[in-house]
Formats: sequence, C-alpha cells, structure tokens
Amino acid sequence: MKFTSALILAGFYLSNSLGAWAGEDAQGKQVFEKWCMPCHGKGTEYPGTLALDARYKGAVPGALEDRTDLAPALVQYFVRNGISVMPFFRKTEISDSELDALTRYLQKQPAQAAAQP
Ligand code: HEC
Repeated sequence: MKFTSALILAGFYLSNSLGAWAGEDAQGKQVFEKWCMPCHGKGTEYPGTLALDARYKGAVPGALEDRTDLAPALVQYFVRNGISVMPFFRKTEISDSELDALTRYLQKQPAQAAAQP
C-alpha cells in the first residue's frame, strides 16, 4: 500500500520534472528562433553563422545550434553585450528567465549540466 503510493508519487514527480525540462527547452528554442535565427540559422545565408565559420575555420560548427561548447556564461555575455554587428539584447526583449531557457537550449545537455555543477 505504502509502496504503491510512493511509486505513484515518484511517477508524478518524474513526469512533472521532465515536463518542466521539455517546456524550458521549447521556450529556449522559441527565443532562439525569434531573436537569433535571423543571423545564426543553419545555412550559408546567415551573417552570424558565416562570421563564426570564418573565425573558427571548421574547428567548431558555425551554427550555434550545432555547437556543444557554448557555456551559459558565454552566451549570456554576448547576448547582453553584443559583438561587432550583433546587437545586445535588453531585458525587455529577452528577460532573464528567457535567457536562462535560451542558454539551456544552446547547451543541449540539461541533465549533464545539472549533474556536474
Ligand atoms: C544581427 C545579427 C545577429 C543577431 C540577431 C544575433 N547575432 Fe550572435 N553574432 C552575430 C555575429 C556576426 C557574430 C560574430 C561576431 C564576430 O566574431 O565578429 C555573433 C557572435 C555570437 C556569439 C559568439 C560565439 C563565439 O564563439 O564567439 C554568440 C554566443 C552569439 N552570437 C549568440 C547569439 C544569440 C544567443 C543571439 C540571439 C539572442 C544572437 N547571437 C543574435 C550576429 C548576430
């Protein structure tokens, strides 16, 4: 009896937290598509992707969504400060919580990131 309710509780907790991750990832993707995609989409018509391709010469992918080395602090820095033709974004455009979701989306590995602080 106790065991069953513990199982139910655990299932509830798990699906809740998984749902939260999925939701945040979806929000991060949305923020990316709205503000970053016009310059950082995948392909050869995006100025940000082209600039990063030219800078890294194949060492890392030009498209941000293909990168696996984007630390949240780095993304936050560029989003709030901008670089060359990339504008900085105000909190009225991208709020702190949207920026959090965006960095998680670009980091790709929320579970791993949580496991190793
Ligand atoms: C107007 C075009 C434009 C927009 C919009 C834009 N960027 Fe950029 N971004 C660039 C360009 C161009 C560079 C490369 C600048 C350079 O190094 O000369 C860049 C560089 C970066 C870098 C640095 C990557 C590295 O390895 O040095 C990050 C991170 C980044 N952008 C994230 C974002 C995010 C996240 C958004 C959306 C919130 C965004 N950018 C929106 C044009 C843009």
